[in-house]
Amino acid sequence: MEQQKFRTSFGLIRRLLIVFTTGFPDQNFLGAFYIPFLLQSISPKFRKNLALNLLFISPHYYGTLPPNIRRQDFIEAEHQGMLLSRESMIERKVKPHLNQNMIVLDHGCGPGYLASAVSRYCNRVIAVDISSGVIACAKAINGKPNIEYITESGTHLSQVENSSIDLIYSFAVMQHVTDDVCQQILQEFFRVLKPQGKIICEFVVDLQNTGNASINKQILNPFVKKIKERYILRVLGRPFPKIEKFILDSGLEIAKVTANKFDPGEEKSKDAELYYTFVLTKP
Ligand SMILES: C[S@@+](CC[C@H](N)C(=O)[O-])C[C@H]1O[C@@H](n2cnc3c(N)ncnc32)[C@H](O)[C@@H]1O
Repeated sequence: MEQQKFRTSFGLIRRLLIVFTTGFPDQNFLGAFYIPFLLQSISPKFRKNLALNLLFISPHYYGTLPPNIRRQDFIEAEHQGMLLSRESMIERKVKPHLNQNMIVLDHGCGPGYLASAVSRYCNRVIAVDISSGVIACAKAINGKPNIEYITESGTHLSQVENSSIDLIYSFAVMQHVTDDVCQQILQEFFRVLKPQGKIICEFVVDLQNTGNASINKQILNPFVKKIKERYILRVLGRPFPKIEKFILDSGLEIAKVTANKFDPGEEKSKDAELYYTFVLTKP
């Protein structure tokens, strides 16, 4: 009973922490300005552990603490699970397209598990995220000499030069951005990719083609909607024709589309077939 009470209050604390650590614009979890300073000012001995605990606050990376498991054990298990699942995703979905000379862009890199796995198979990785806090966590947990972690605005890749990237991948990101942002990102992918370069990009597909983009229930109250958009993770599905239009409008071409198969620990909805991986090319 006592333990249950403690867990309920910890759940509330976690929600409060989400509020205090979210930055601008909306959905920029761990984007509060002070997170990178916090990580920099702590002794390197404790930095990785603090980063793992910060990741636990964000709704993006680790799950909800189950009953009867110590928080620290849970965080360590989630960390190990992410290492394995992201390694496996790279092996299956990205490695076949890689070679040791390539410069690779990891879009929406989060804590850098994917970037770390990819860095072994290419020359250099530029890993980009909207959240300066998660970039600081990535440096602490998955820092490697050939990975450059950078924070960008969410719509532009201002620090990446035209036609400079051999391969871009983006997993578990497009479902969190609005249509406008999705279109701008695809245009930026086109700009920074070398001709004949490839993009491996995951989308959540709304198979019923309802035209209603949101998997989350539509909320009518504008105040609740605003709060939810700011502090609760948004997940959007899009009908195939809409995704196809966004891709073709950006100048990219679709080479292949596959329904995802999932490994334990990999991000999935109850309808796993909703997640699709698109291979795109720049003609
Ligand atoms: C679910 S996490 C996935 C992280 C990583 N791609 C992975 O699969 O392990 C989604 C990430 O996308 C980032 N993100 C959301 N919107 C973004 C945007 N417009 N530009 C860049 N990153 C974005 C979030 O901050 C978060 O780190």
